[in-house]
Amino acid sequence: MTEVRPPAAAPASLWERDEEVAAVERAVDTLCAGRASAGSLLVIRGEAGFGKTALLSETRRIAERRGCTVWSARGGETLRSVPFNVVRQLLQPALLSLMPEEAREYLGDWYDIAGPALGIAEPGERQADPQGVCDGLVAAVRRLARRDWPLVLLIDDAHWADQETLRWLAAFAERLDDLSVLVVVARRPGEVSGESARHLDSVAAAAGRPMTNLSALTPDATAGLTRATVGEHADAPFCREVWAVTGGNPYETVELLAKVQDSELEPSEGSAAELRELNRSARGGGLVTRLEELGVDATRFAWAAAILGDAISVGLVAKLATLEHDEAVRCAALLCAARILTAPDSAAGQVDDGDLEFVHPLIASAVYNSIPDALRTAMHGIAAQVVTDSGLGPAAASRHLLQVHPDDDEELVEQLREAARDHVAVGAPDAARRCLERALLEPPPPEVHARVLFELGAVSRIMCGAR
Ligand SMILES: Nc1ncnc2c1ncn2[C@@H]1O[C@H](COP(=O)(O)OP(=O)(O)O)[C@@H](O)[C@H]1O
Ligand SMILES: [Mg+2]
Repeated sequence: MTEVRPPAAAPASLWERDEEVAAVERAVDTLCAGRASAGSLLVIRGEAGFGKTALLSETRRIAERRGCTVWSARGGETLRSVPFNVVRQLLQPALLSLMPEEAREYLGDWYDIAGPALGIAEPGERQADPQGVCDGLVAAVRRLARRDWPLVLLIDDAHWADQETLRWLAAFAERLDDLSVLVVVARRPGEVSGESARHLDSVAAAAGRPMTNLSALTPDATAGLTRATVGEHADAPFCREVWAVTGGNPYETVELLAKVQDSELEPSEGSAAELRELNRSARGGGLVTRLEELGVDATRFAWAAAILGDAISVGLVAKLATLEHDEAVRCAALLCAARILTAPDSAAGQVDDGDLEFVHPLIASAVYNSIPDALRTAMHGIAAQVVTDSGLGPAAASRHLLQVHPDDDEELVEQLREAARDHVAVGAPDAARRCLERALLEPPPPEVHARVLFELGAVSRIMCGAR
């Protein structure tokens, strides 16, 4: 038998995405044609697991091969309330490469206005005008795009991007006719509402071309993927059952095939009946059982990682899950071996340098939702403390504080008011509103109550002015 499997390290080749990849190649061609060419925006839409992230990775490879600079960022389900989270991530490589003085020079008049939102300048004492901040961010990114031409911006899971980033993205997208840049946005259908949905609609409208809708893999492609993974000898009924069980969802297919390999299941008709059960252990109740089997400490580790949501380091998780460092390292390794977590940036087998990630957002959501309610809110309370202790400031801690159960806690009210002031100062009044509304539920002591109401009124006025 001849071995046709690609080496494990090779990027997974994408089945049935030729048209989408060709569209990306054309867009990169246009970008590279010259600084005078118009910018373009692609929106890729697909259900969870349909291959949005994989297509963005392919876009990165294509662009980098042509010598483009690529910056990327992604939204997170539990991070939607963090203002400017995604645009900060996106600009991080640029911001890190600039000395503070250079940044001031580049952003010019916009430095004082957009700098605090990007986390590179101290917020002023006063409230920032959200429209001004949005305009400032548009201007800042336009300057950076000219400096770093040809530049490709990748925004993954935009349905979970914070509202402030989406507002910027919508405004930025409307002005691409005289800026040579390529923006690729990936999102799930649905999952957004309100203000964010409105901004995402404007982004789609500005794209000026239909969205790319990813579809499930056909039975043929599923069979191809199955044979490429488990061996050419996988027979037709087995491949057909893989498709029937996964519905052609690439993520489910890849995970199911990994389990087939782990359990050394014979890929033939006789074992096809076992596929359905094997698939069930991937998420939902099956995932919970798998976590339990890994032990109490590994489960706590996974929960703590899900609470943190991003920047998952063994150190922070250990603090949050109250685990000794060595024990935490062992848990991280167990969870990586079980394909729940992955350590994308670190050397093979090393889990204690660099950040960890969940293998897929579906797993992150399933783990988060499996945390018992009372424990989840308690862990968010501790997370707020851990985040504050690591010097990240009240605004960073506030997303955890929002999840804590109301409990007459004066200290919490003060933390939320402080976070609200910070949010207002960087131009995120809506985030401030959430903090103050939550503070009212605590409830604040009688003498503070009126002040919180007053602050909420002030924030609402900024928001009305902003619309
Ligand atoms: N067209 C495809 N062919 C083969 N594998 C794919 C394809 N699309 C996605 N995959 C694999 O499926 C898994 C899930 O894809 P991902 O890009 O994370 O989905 P999404 O971002 O839409 O949730 C990944 O392991 C990815 O490599
Ligand atoms: Mg994805």
